[in-house]
Amino acid sequence: MSGPTTCGAEPTRQTRSTAPLGMRRCGYGSASRPICWTQIEEARSRSAGAGARSTWLCASAAGAGKSSPVIWPVCRARRAAARRTPGLFKSGPRVRPYGSGMADSMSASATMQSELWSTDPLAWAQSAEGRIRPLYDDVLDRLRLAPATRLLDAGCGAGLFAELAARAGAEVTGLDAASGLIEYARGRRPEATYVVGELQRMPFDDDAFDVVTAFNSVVYAADPRRAIAEIARLTAPSGRAVLTVGAGPEQAESAALINPLARRGDVPDSSTLDLADADATRDALLDAGFTTVTTADIAFDVHFDDVDDAIAAQVPAGPVTAAIRHSGRAAVEAALQSFFAARTRPDGTVRMGLVFRSYVATRREARS
Ligand SMILES: C[S@@+](CC[C@H](N)C(=O)[O-])C[C@H]1O[C@@H](n2cnc3c(N)ncnc32)[C@H](O)[C@@H]1O
Repeated sequence: MSGPTTCGAEPTRQTRSTAPLGMRRCGYGSASRPICWTQIEEARSRSAGAGARSTWLCASAAGAGKSSPVIWPVCRARRAAARRTPGLFKSGPRVRPYGSGMADSMSASATMQSELWSTDPLAWAQSAEGRIRPLYDDVLDRLRLAPATRLLDAGCGAGLFAELAARAGAEVTGLDAASGLIEYARGRRPEATYVVGELQRMPFDDDAFDVVTAFNSVVYAADPRRAIAEIARLTAPSGRAVLTVGAGPEQAESAALINPLARRGDVPDSSTLDLADADATRDALLDAGFTTVTTADIAFDVHFDDVDDAIAAQVPAGPVTAAIRHSGRAAVEAALQSFFAARTRPDGTVRMGLVFRSYVATRREARS
């Protein structure tokens, strides 16, 4: 695999650029280390509006010892990991810097999703993400990853699946619109490559990955067909892609309560492509260049200590955040209370049944 390493190196120069925000370079990087540029962009988007424009200049963080609250912990974690395990930072995929700044490269919808999913990364990671571990385990079993498989998790969230795939031996890259979740994922596995980006325009070369996974993320793309076309572009000949989407009656019931409380456009809209429709999604995958598509439903229950615990696990999710913003917390909590009351057992614990429809698609051997 070719391409630059990401932030394993010591900084080489200090930059206090007066260039426009999107053109600034991190002290770790240059045009040839665009991942650092991406980190700058993440920091920029986080500090936007906070009047903290200078704090995200990475060079000042490391070179002069003036810590940047945003970038420094990330880079420090990577350097510490590299010291512990020399050679840890293998070259990752080439990350092509977005044009003149993330705002120019992310769709309005992705920018909105980024905000909605970044409100409480810790809560998402600790109270929601781990509950769908049976889905990840099922997919990992079916993928049987060979060592050093180049795997992209597109819409990786807080990075649990990426972490499991890395433990299984894959060379992992994660992409997500939500900078807060990407930061959490990086902290979890500093040696992996993580990028803030848009599913419909991912900053990697054609055929860059042997496996591309997208767990419950493509449904949030403004145009899921474009996201699928991107996934196909990045999947190497004979490589595989896995898409999943929530498709159970209880998930549908919950969405029917929550989504109307949010602004239209902030929650998934299945009018372009209903990913739970197996025939339509199969056709979309075949149109994008995959040759075989296998569909399977993965069903399991999730359990909560009580209704409050169940509600707390929903709040960090994008659609619930969108509903709270639009209709207020009380209205959303009332809807969730009624939803979970019907699933509460005599001992006060709550059970919810989940079904995820999964599509495993294989690319043809060579591009025509
Ligand atoms: C339901 S979460 C799934 C996260 C993760 N795959 C998991 O299984 O926990 C959806 C993810 O898609 C991301 N997302 C939504 N729209 C996106 C877009 N247009 N580009 C990139 N990521 C997007 C969100 O930020 C969020 O992390």
